[in-house]
Amino acid sequence: MDVIFDAIGKSYQTRSGRPVRAVAHVDLAIPHGTFVSLVGPSGCGKTTLLDILLGVTAPTTGRVLLDGRDQHDGAETSAERPAVVLQAPTLLPWRTVRSNVTLLAACGPAAMRRPRPVRNEVRARADALLDLVGVGDFADRYPSELSGGMQQRVAIARALFTRSPLMCFDEPFSALDEFTRESLHDELQRIWSTEGFTAVFVTHNIQEAVLLSDRVIVMAPRPGRVVADISIDLPRPRLHERMTDPAFGDLVLRIREALREGLVEAA
Ligand SMILES: Nc1ncnc2c1ncn2[C@@H]1O[C@H](COP(=O)(O)OP(=O)(O)O)[C@@H](O)[C@H]1O
Ligand SMILES: [Mg+2]
Repeated sequence: MDVIFDAIGKSYQTRSGRPVRAVAHVDLAIPHGTFVSLVGPSGCGKTTLLDILLGVTAPTTGRVLLDGRDQHDGAETSAERPAVVLQAPTLLPWRTVRSNVTLLAACGPAAMRRPRPVRNEVRARADALLDLVGVGDFADRYPSELSGGMQQRVAIARALFTRSPLMCFDEPFSALDEFTRESLHDELQRIWSTEGFTAVFVTHNIQEAVLLSDRVIVMAPRPGRVVADISIDLPRPRLHERMTDPAFGDLVLRIREALREGLVEAA
């Protein structure tokens, strides 16, 4: 899915009455199938931009175009709505792993009328996705029986289940240990390259952004804005061992410098 942020601005009203300019003016075109990361210090408007993209928050100015259509001109089917993976897995504790993944298929009046063959298909698709993210053996377990990393894999399967052409991620791996995070980086690269969705990935981890992305958008706070747009032309698949390559290091450095300049300006 093609994504365009067209002159997006967002101010929040605060209790003191003074508005906070969370996002000042963002123009951003993300072509179909690309993997784009948004990096920046906390408070620079990353989550706000993602929430606007998801339709959770309305922008104060500007608009979002999805495949050329204004976001609000009816994404009628759930398949056209963006899917999201957050920092916390947010699984429902009383449902099994499989039925967390099929949750959206189970919602709404259409679900009640669904004939048995379709329900079997839904179940098979959930199981295939759980296999894909490496927790196929846990479909009948409950979330509390899984580690944090495994729960996050389930959250990824739940997002993939929607078949959305646009996947959004808000710091999905930041609560995980190093080893789990590395293996999820590998999985996500593999899944993205086979499924072909557009990915908008928020992180404050520069290495992670370089490893995963085609482009890294660097943001600065007060007000939240884009200060650099850096292409990552490293060959894929990208392995963690290659993080020590000079080309990788150069990109990390460029992003770090852009972040520092943005912070100096904001100060
Ligand atoms: N609901 C809200 N009400 C008031 N201010 C908010 C709200 N959400 C975010 N902000 C403010 O907007 C700015 C950007 O926040 P956010 O998008 O969460 O940044 P990030 O995800 O980059 O950390 C911050 O200054 C934050 O305090
Ligand atoms: Mg955030």
